[in-house]
Amino acid sequence: MCGIIGIAGVNQVAPKLLDCLKRLEYRGYDSSGIAVTSGDGIERLRAVGRLSELESRMESKTPSGTTGIGHTRWATHGAPTVENAHPHISPQGTFCVVHNGIIENSEEIKKTLLQGDFFESQTDTEVFSHLLEKYYIGEPINAIAKALAVLKGAYAFGILCSDFPDVVFGASSGSPLVAIGCEEGGFISSDPCAVNEKIKSVYRISGGEICCVGKDRLLFFDPSGQAIEKKPESITCKMESMSKGQYPHFMLKEIYEQPRAVSDTVNSLVKMGSVFLPDVYLDDDFFRDELEKIVIVGCGSAYHTGLCVKNMLESMSGVTCNVEIASEFRYSQPVLNKNTLTVFISQSGETADTLACLRLAKHCGAKILSIVNVKGSVIATESENVIFTLAGREIAVATTKAYSAQLAALYSLAIYIGRIKGKLTSEQEEKLVSEMLLLPSKIEETLRETEALSKEIANDICRAQNIFFMGRLCDYATACEGALKLKEISYINAQCYPAGELKHGTISLVDEGTPVIAILGESRVFSKTLSNMCETEARGACVFAITDKAKETLLSQKHKTISVADTLSLFRPSLLVLPLQLLSYHTALLRGCDIDKPRNLAKSVTVE
Ligand code: F6R
Repeated sequence: MCGIIGIAGVNQVAPKLLDCLKRLEYRGYDSSGIAVTSGDGIERLRAVGRLSELESRMESKTPSGTTGIGHTRWATHGAPTVENAHPHISPQGTFCVVHNGIIENSEEIKKTLLQGDFFESQTDTEVFSHLLEKYYIGEPINAIAKALAVLKGAYAFGILCSDFPDVVFGASSGSPLVAIGCEEGGFISSDPCAVNEKIKSVYRISGGEICCVGKDRLLFFDPSGQAIEKKPESITCKMESMSKGQYPHFMLKEIYEQPRAVSDTVNSLVKMGSVFLPDVYLDDDFFRDELEKIVIVGCGSAYHTGLCVKNMLESMSGVTCNVEIASEFRYSQPVLNKNTLTVFISQSGETADTLACLRLAKHCGAKILSIVNVKGSVIATESENVIFTLAGREIAVATTKAYSAQLAALYSLAIYIGRIKGKLTSEQEEKLVSEMLLLPSKIEETLRETEALSKEIANDICRAQNIFFMGRLCDYATACEGALKLKEISYINAQCYPAGELKHGTISLVDEGTPVIAILGESRVFSKTLSNMCETEARGACVFAITDKAKETLLSQKHKTISVADTLSLFRPSLLVLPLQLLSYHTALLRGCDIDKPRNLAKSVTVE
């Protein structure tokens, strides 16, 4: 979502701020802005839309100075307008702030502490700039600490003070922020990858901490404003992965990176034919004697990966596995205790709702295990047990390679539990592991063999207004992912149903030419889903089938059928999803959509 950058002590800082903001673009935003401080006060430029709008404003008037802050905003409070774009300046112009997160009590603060103040925007953020000025008596750290103490909610701030034109201040609680010492200048950012300099040291700011960053110094303070020492962290970001290489879009590049993403993930979790989980510290006794329930929590595609492995986890563990949508789960009254294993799935490791569920589960005493792609992210840091997916940085908003890596991590977890629980003999484990190790080459084969037909079907469906996806059991989970992928990047209304449910209402929407995409991977229910497919066809639907090579011949030749490589049924979701990703990509391409940055969406959803 929103992105923060702050730079101190760099010649002509404005173009550098813009350059860093470009590296944050992938997170999703709808307006942007920068502010630069020099001895003569603070100069600000803001624009709605793409960073190119801000860039063209800068061409006619580049703010001059060595210290500044910048922001890409994904609108929450107030529409994406110039007035609502960050940075926000305090009434007397002493402070200027950029903010990620939500100040939940901003209205209350306006009515109590800031009564009578005039606000130029509808944002929650502007309140903070007013508070800073209210508490300022020549000492910015104290003013920041006092203002932070009033806030409720999650935040990361970048702050300029016109009386201290050589430094940038930062503060964070529950929203990512790092302070970075570089050979050339000091930086703060919500994402270390925004900084393309020779990095000397990186410090994570959290729990209400404050930092002050200058050209050659980094100072840290606790929430009350007392100076503290901090240890640098080993956070890295591979810049080469920020390039599209030979591909027209990051999404297509990432689709084709899936064999590597799955191979790296699986190989990091397998040793001599057996699964081992290097960052999981739960005793075997816990799994064997105490485990009573597994709860998987995630949002969007991450939630779908949980649905895909629910049955596998249940059969390997012998206990119930519930899969929960984080934004619902956090407000339910879940029954969790020390015998529950809660599994949090997140590519970014930042998703606000998933993080809130993790904290809730901790509070209930449940065991925590997270599956995360970004090392050093909040979810990874707050989890006692982690399985890292090694998909590499994912830039396209629509997840593909991280999804596949999450599936691989979940299969590994299921096999690991199956062995401890005695549900798998070592021969059975070895057989599963060796098939899992073949997945990367089967993914490669499937991508190669299904792209042409996916393109052809994209051409058939790209003008549709409504599309239905259906499947049963794991195929339903894959169908959900297919529908999500299609709607998020092509803006076609795609709905997904368990195949047997269609005739309980939704089939009334099917008429002549309505595209229906049926997933037929589950052998146990193949004929059932096939019947449902025929029911929609009898009402005029234009049906497409996704199955595997072994079952292809069971389908009539009159249907356009995409067949993926054969594998064990447990791992089939990893292959069935691939043509659906390609189908979404090519449909969005034909519709001229902005594939890597679909409207209204953000890569990391850091607000609830
Ligand atoms: C869809 C997509 C989203 C994410 C969801 C969770 O293509 O990418 O649905 O899966 O926002 O994000 P993470 O995994 O970062 O928690």
